Amino acid sequence: MSRLIIVSNRLPMSLEAKQDGSYSLRQNVGGLATAIGPYHRSHRDCLWIGWSGIDTKRYSDKELADIKAAYKERRCIPIFLSEEEVNGYYAGFSNNTLWPLFHDFSHEAVFKQDDWDMYRKVNMRFAQVVEPLIRKGDTIWIQDYHLMLLPKMLRERYPDASIGWFLHVPFPSAEIFRSLPWSREILEGVLGANLVGFHTVDFSTSFLASVHRLLPQLKVDRDGVVEMPGGHRAAIDAFPIGIDYSLYSRTARSGLARAMRRGIDEVCGKSPRHRYRNSVKAEGVAALEASSSEGNWWSHHIEEDIPELTLARQAASSVGTRSNKVIVSVDRLDYTKGLPERLKAFGAMLDKYPEWIGHVTYYLLATPSRENVRSYQILKDQVDQLVGEINGRYSLLAWTPIHYITRSLSIKPVCGIYSAGDVALVTPLRDGMNLVAKEYLACHDGDAGSLVLSDMCGAADELTDAFIVNPYDIDMVCEALHNALEISPEESRQRNIKMQARLKVRTASNWCNSFLDSLKQVSMPGMTQG
Ligand code: G6P
Repeated sequence: MSRLIIVSNRLPMSLEAKQDGSYSLRQNVGGLATAIGPYHRSHRDCLWIGWSGIDTKRYSDKELADIKAAYKERRCIPIFLSEEEVNGYYAGFSNNTLWPLFHDFSHEAVFKQDDWDMYRKVNMRFAQVVEPLIRKGDTIWIQDYHLMLLPKMLRERYPDASIGWFLHVPFPSAEIFRSLPWSREILEGVLGANLVGFHTVDFSTSFLASVHRLLPQLKVDRDGVVEMPGGHRAAIDAFPIGIDYSLYSRTARSGLARAMRRGIDEVCGKSPRHRYRNSVKAEGVAALEASSSEGNWWSHHIEEDIPELTLARQAASSVGTRSNKVIVSVDRLDYTKGLPERLKAFGAMLDKYPEWIGHVTYYLLATPSRENVRSYQILKDQVDQLVGEINGRYSLLAWTPIHYITRSLSIKPVCGIYSAGDVALVTPLRDGMNLVAKEYLACHDGDAGSLVLSDMCGAADELTDAFIVNPYDIDMVCEALHNALEISPEESRQRNIKMQARLKVRTASNWCNSFLDSLKQVSMPGMTQG
């Protein structure tokens, strides 16, 4: 019987250490795990191979054997990598070279021969683990930019195997890609697959442009099928990934998510009993002013014309005339997500539309990521500083503009945050798809909730009724944010209907099946052999 072998850098479950020293496996919530996880769980003969993600030095041989056995029970095969391998292959070539290059951040890309050598070596380690498992008729599905050499390595051993490869991030223009000293080897590596998939037609077109430019000897037919010497053919196509819509819409209605939403509503003064707190706030500002003019101790600190006091007065005067709103965003702390630009746009909106001061609260969930890579450490400092500046500049006595959370939250609280958001601000500078935009809409199933979305991500091709913005254009994001906060619930609901209908049909499992069906078709004898 034919089986599916999934190969990705990370496994769909991570090891979680408990306080008593024991550990357990926890399901990951990333796009890949939620998209392919259900297929893996429901097919008893489906295997998943990937890096364990752990620092092997911290475990004894006995513990590593136990970890392996725990994974095996879940039909996962962990690959243990040494510190040196992680540094060169993962932190180095994958995250310091390919990641920035593929996201149009060429200036961040580091080209190091040692990292490339280690990338090749670790791809070979993966090949050595996968090869003995392959049986006749199996399908092998390789994921993402970490494993671009693996398709060719497996093809050389198994000329007839059915191999798919999918890229979860953008593919850059040929102009950018060709600056990579090892660009030809990378292309040839990927072309070992029968089917090469991308999120959008633009990315698959860029890939084919690179093939034309860097491997001009290869024939490419009108359907985008590349013919390799020896007759192997690789089909190139787009498969936009979806989400498990019902999981998100259901979870947003769960008790915990609803409680989170109520909590956020209370903190932000959205629930009715907080009209009282708002009026107290207004009184507080009035008292502050009065005390400053009466010449008590405040007068030494506050002068009549300081802008903060003027803003506080404006905020106080609009209490009761404007209902409070919540903005949300959920990201990995990654420089491709455009967090500094987004924060600047939020600050610009408070400047330009001071009527929002005291009336809009931004919940910024930014989970630290790849903390051993220098550019991520710099970004974290930058975001910390900007949040501090905005909060310092605009906070009132009983209101803080930004609630900044830098922890990893599980799906229920995340859905609580999504559903509390009147507006989601999703403005990556570059992104393959961006599932946050889709998850937010699912958490507002049949309901209002405005999406401000970057046109630099794959999701913008599909979610055309969102407030589409250029994430680099601070004024544009500022205006879109203001408009998204201002529109009526009815208009917001209307905008969402079409997008939600599409997301309900184009789900993660639909994406998975559609890729595997196409792979089956292009791998049929006769297709592969020209
Ligand atoms: C992107 C990649 C994934 C990766 C994820 C998290 O979405 O496409 O392959 O797993 O980022 O990054 P990390 O380096 O923590 O695995």
